[in-house]
Amino acid sequence: MKKVITYGTFDLFHYGHLRLLERAKSLGDYLIVAVSTDEFNEIKNKKCTYPFEERAEIVKAIKYVDEVIPEHNWEQKVNDIRSHKVDLFVMGSDWEGKFDELKEFCEVVYLERTPEISSSGIKTKIKHGK
Ligand code: CTP
Repeated sequence: MKKVITYGTFDLFHYGHLRLLERAKSLGDYLIVAVSTDEFNEIKNKKCTYPFEERAEIVKAIKYVDEVIPEHNWEQKVNDIRSHKVDLFVMGSDWEGKFDELKEFCEVVYLERTPEISSSGIKTKIKHGK
């Protein structure tokens, strides 16, 4: 069984998130999604609309997702890959090249982002009414 893992905040779950998860799952048999905790988002200077529990519950309900784990910090990836026996690490192309050091532990793939949609873009659109 090929295990895939990906990481993200997944605030205001949108079509770009769905497409990322669909393609990630299609590259293996079992998809683990590490969802950033509210504390970790503070470190990243990311302000979320939905709290961790709600973001995690929405991601878990997506049919491509088999398991959700919390993402607490930048450093946990190697440990997650080892403890969950992950074969493939997937991230969107906004992270291209940033996690190449993980190639020592598993396969690493960056997937093209879906154009013209993001959580921050949605927030801006709603705020400005366009
Ligand atoms: N993603 C994607 N296409 C998009 C938006 C996101 O493929 N249009 C992917 C990201 O590359 C990442 C995952 O979805 O692998 C989670 O992204 P996240 O940062 O939570 O979503 P964004 O919409 O990019 O959020 P923000 O605007 O806050 O950066």
